[in-house]
Amino acid sequence: MLHSCAVSSFVIRCAAISEQKELEALQWRASLTNAGDRDALLAHPDAIELSIDQIAAGTVFVSERNGSIVGFAALLPGADGDVELDALFVDPEVRRCGVGRSLVDHCVQIARMQGFSALCVIGNPHAHDFYSACGFNIVGTTETRFGPGLLMRKMV
Ligand SMILES: CC(C)(COP(=O)(O)OP(=O)(O)OC[C@H]1O[C@@H](n2cnc3c(N)ncnc32)[C@H](O)[C@@H]1OP(=O)(O)O)[C@@H](O)C(=O)NCCC(=O)NCCS
Repeated sequence: MLHSCAVSSFVIRCAAISEQKELEALQWRASLTNAGDRDALLAHPDAIELSIDQIAAGTVFVSERNGSIVGFAALLPGADGDVELDALFVDPEVRRCGVGRSLVDHCVQIARMQGFSALCVIGNPHAHDFYSACGFNIVGTTETRFGPGLLMRKMV
């Protein structure tokens, strides 16, 4: 199937609770494309979990095109008064169309409206170039259950 890659054809809205399983399935598809993470994920399937509470709180945002969800992002209160980008996943079929960047932009707007000054993320090293392109800087590193993570931060 051919995809229109125009970012204007994507709409961002809050996720619905009824979409929890669909979003977790998207997270699986997206995460399994990160070379090297696949075996660890398959060994720890509980790592892919999107909480109903987070959706109900209105802090999970989906990008949709023609009625299909193609990506989502989730926010959580972060450390030091920042807000944390807790999840960001784009369907492998719709990569490099600007969906990820537009979800980050949306989260930046939300963070700004809520009075935060920075958005932080524990970035998968596979996503380093993406986060750099979106204006995040590395401020440290951390260990996650799947290996090293990049602490990245972007002023909003
Ligand atoms: C990381 C991810 C969210 C990016 O989503 P995306 O919609 O493909 O990204 P965008 O199209 O908005 O990319 C914006 C810019 O980021 C950079 N970028 C994105 N993917 C890249 C890649 N694989 N390699 C290098 N640069 C990349 C580019 O500069 C790109 O702009 P360009 O396409 O005009 O060159 C997506 O690849 C994904 O879901 N990966 C698997 C899950 C994951 O690792 N999530 C992050 C968890 S911390």
